Amino acid sequence: MPYNTFGIDVKARLLVEYDTVDELREVLKVHRGERILHIGQGSNLLFTKDFDGVLLHSRMCRARFLDDETVEAQNGLRLDDLIAQLTDMNYCGLEKLSLIPGEVGASAVQNVGAYGGEAKDAILSVRVLDIQTLEERVMSNAECRFGYRDSIFKHELKDRVIVLSVVYHVEKGYARAKREEIIRTRLAKLPEVGKVGSAGSFFMNPFVPEEQANALLKLFPDMPHFDSPQGVKIPAAWLIEQCGWKGKTLGGAQVWHKQPLVIVNAEGKATPEDIVNLAKQVSDSVFDKFNIRINPEVNYI
Ligand code: EPU
Repeated sequence: MPYNTFGIDVKARLLVEYDTVDELREVLKVHRGERILHIGQGSNLLFTKDFDGVLLHSRMCRARFLDDETVEAQNGLRLDDLIAQLTDMNYCGLEKLSLIPGEVGASAVQNVGAYGGEAKDAILSVRVLDIQTLEERVMSNAECRFGYRDSIFKHELKDRVIVLSVVYHVEKGYARAKREEIIRTRLAKLPEVGKVGSAGSFFMNPFVPEEQANALLKLFPDMPHFDSPQGVKIPAAWLIEQCGWKGKTLGGAQVWHKQPLVIVNAEGKATPEDIVNLAKQVSDSVFDKFNIRINPEVNYI
């Protein structure tokens, strides 16, 4: 299955790719009642076994300007291709998200983010298809209930709608230098998608109550911490490094030596169990040492 960036050897019963919304409607009618999973580039998924359902993937990958400051991109366009095109045309607004793997549709579901920017900062609205009624509707940014790597599409609307396109706010402006800087930083720290199997950050950064952060700071004065409305954010990378996991291997799975938030399929031979086991051991040891539970950002299928 080429659509999993972990490079794990799993199979799906059926993969259907569609080129138009009408085709998608037909596919949904034919496979009504079956298990359906709409994927993007598969860069945030961990298939723990063969998938006995229908995988859907969009080949709709156009973008068009609705006006000077609004661009609508179809779900199957790679986010980084969109950003590259916008940068070339001298538009800015999305460049902090440069090189994040994944497609436009998933970027809204997951509210991807990096270097102080999140997809939600630029998203004006999202067009979705209701899987039951097959009707389209447009949801405003507020209706999407975006949070840290989170949205309504991961909760109430999970398995109920498919994101068809996303409308972003962009501005005329030079973004090439920023984009290049971000690409350099990412390439220096993160395993390159397509070369080393991974799903980017495996865990989300945890938020803890202020009292817990203060108590931990007495024990670990060097602990990085960032105040936020959700609580104090502690970098999971730091917690994992303190537990001695950086660069450690278990079976074919490895904690990335440059950024321990990432688990990689070191030599392309990892089984799903290797990755699940390593992730569990990492998470358990962080819990034992800090009493903080770190949760996967990656979706287990
Ligand atoms: N750190 C360590 N050891 C390390 C690396 C980092 O202790 O080896 C600590 C440092 O204190 C550092 C802090 O972790 O200041 C934050 O590290 P970094 O800037 O690399 O960011 P992150 O919080 O670990 C998040 C995103 C990344 C995104 C970066 C850059 C999540 C789950 N991950 O990582 O997103 O690229 O910020 O903004 O929020 C992804 O989601 O797949 C992803 C790669």
